[in-house]
Amino acid sequence: MAASRLYIAVAPGDGIGPEIMDAAMTLFKAAHVDDHADFIPAQMGKEVFDTGNTRGVTDEAVRTIEDCGVLFKGPMETPKGGGGKSINVTLRKLFSTYANFRVFKTLPGVQTVYSKAGIRLDFSIVRENIEDTYGGVEHRLTSDMVQCKRLISAPGSDQVHRFALQTARTLGVSKVHCGHKANIMKMSDGLFLDRFKAAAKDFPEIETGDVIVDALCMNLVVKPQQYKMIVLPNLQGDIVSDLAAGLVGGLGFAPSANIGRHISIFEAVHGTAPDIAGKGIANPTSLILSGIMMLRHVGLVRHAAIIENALLAALETGLHTGDFGDPSLPGYTKEPASTKDFVAGIIAKLGESPKTVPAAPVPEQDAPAFTHAPRPASQQMIRTFTNIVSHVVGCDIYLDTPLSPPAVADEMQRVAQDTPFRLTLISNRGTQVWPSGSVYTECVDYYRVRFELREGVSPGQIGQSRAVTLLDKIAEKFTVCSYELLRVFDGVKGYSMAQGQ
Ligand code: NAI
Repeated sequence: MAASRLYIAVAPGDGIGPEIMDAAMTLFKAAHVDDHADFIPAQMGKEVFDTGNTRGVTDEAVRTIEDCGVLFKGPMETPKGGGGKSINVTLRKLFSTYANFRVFKTLPGVQTVYSKAGIRLDFSIVRENIEDTYGGVEHRLTSDMVQCKRLISAPGSDQVHRFALQTARTLGVSKVHCGHKANIMKMSDGLFLDRFKAAAKDFPEIETGDVIVDALCMNLVVKPQQYKMIVLPNLQGDIVSDLAAGLVGGLGFAPSANIGRHISIFEAVHGTAPDIAGKGIANPTSLILSGIMMLRHVGLVRHAAIIENALLAALETGLHTGDFGDPSLPGYTKEPASTKDFVAGIIAKLGESPKTVPAAPVPEQDAPAFTHAPRPASQQMIRTFTNIVSHVVGCDIYLDTPLSPPAVADEMQRVAQDTPFRLTLISNRGTQVWPSGSVYTECVDYYRVRFELREGVSPGQIGQSRAVTLLDKIAEKFTVCSYELLRVFDGVKGYSMAQGQ
């Protein structure tokens, strides 16, 4: 591939995907995007699942995306049941696109409760895109209990916070909030929030704050204009960003970028709309807006601004597809435009600026900023903390047993008699049930028994093998369903207390 041109992998998608991708491509061609970029097909979606490929993406497509560094994709159908996984999740993880960036802007012609009240919205959400419960690390632990591990790492948090703050700096966004639930999940959300505060120190000109995610949801509904940019862990970000899409008219108007160090993916956030597929009536706005983000990402900033202004200028006349429309606008027609006519209406406005909403500033020229770093030789290790000294100070052993808490305690104290550990806690579903608790606490068949170093044994005096020996002894009599070592890191406890402890 020649260095002077941009290469962008393209996957039209399933259902309405090919129709809206065709619309976006027609618009890009009319705006002369292909003077600078070649679009290379990458095969994925239903046709690939149908060949028995459970990833839904061919090896050639993976290679094409790796070579290009940018993927522009339409919605993909996730097969129901069977082995087929969501392609979207697969691609995000495969290429470490750690930040999901979504912009929520009031658009002319798109009626919402806020637009009717004269409130203009313009904010964005940056969602951590890889970790959290999306690791999909789940286990059945007992007859009655399953677990999903919530993984939050320091470097993963750093990447997403730095992306958010750097993007805020580039776009002139004055305020960034970190959404979280660190009041309850003090270690995982606590780490996410701590890393936000650490990253914010390098961006002193940006005002930063934090907000608990439930309050955030209420605030977004009551007074959304108070936020400019919000960065959130994966699951909370998933939910809050759909809420935010609803505030500006629904998923059809919310573009999405998945940003990674090497590879980035730009996609419509809505699905394949099987109910209207093939009818030529789908709304391509979300994909076009995602494409505009992509053009800015690769440095075609002038093209992006011209296309954005044409879209806004067309929308403010009242041009609409069947899923939206504002009858009060001068050019509104009862009969909605087809996808093709909708795009023809935007193309007719190329070179014009919107009059009722702020126009995107059009730079004198493009700023080719996109450099695709050479292919790494192997997977890269990302680190935040190094040189930390950690010591084992105990273990949490999880048991599958129908015994009562005092009976479990008797057995555990007996087993631990001649070891460096003593039983300090038994909890059930996170609530302490021994040595104290309430008889009203209902228990399930899954206990945590915590052992900590006896008095006189100091951290560092014993290694982890002694804790594993204790596990062995317990496993002779009990069904052990999982096991966590308790460690201190530079003297700080690396484990949480039980509720009621
Ligand atoms: P959906 O977003 O496809 O459809 C929900 C409703 O919105 C339907 O009534 C549909 O007609 C309408 N709609 C969606 N996009 C539209 C557009 N551009 N123009 C006009 N109307 C539009 O969600 P659904 O039905 O839950 O999912 C259908 C399929 O899409 C599933 O296989 C799902 O897995 C997949 N999906 C893929 C996504 C992606 O690739 N990013 C995201 C969400 C779902």
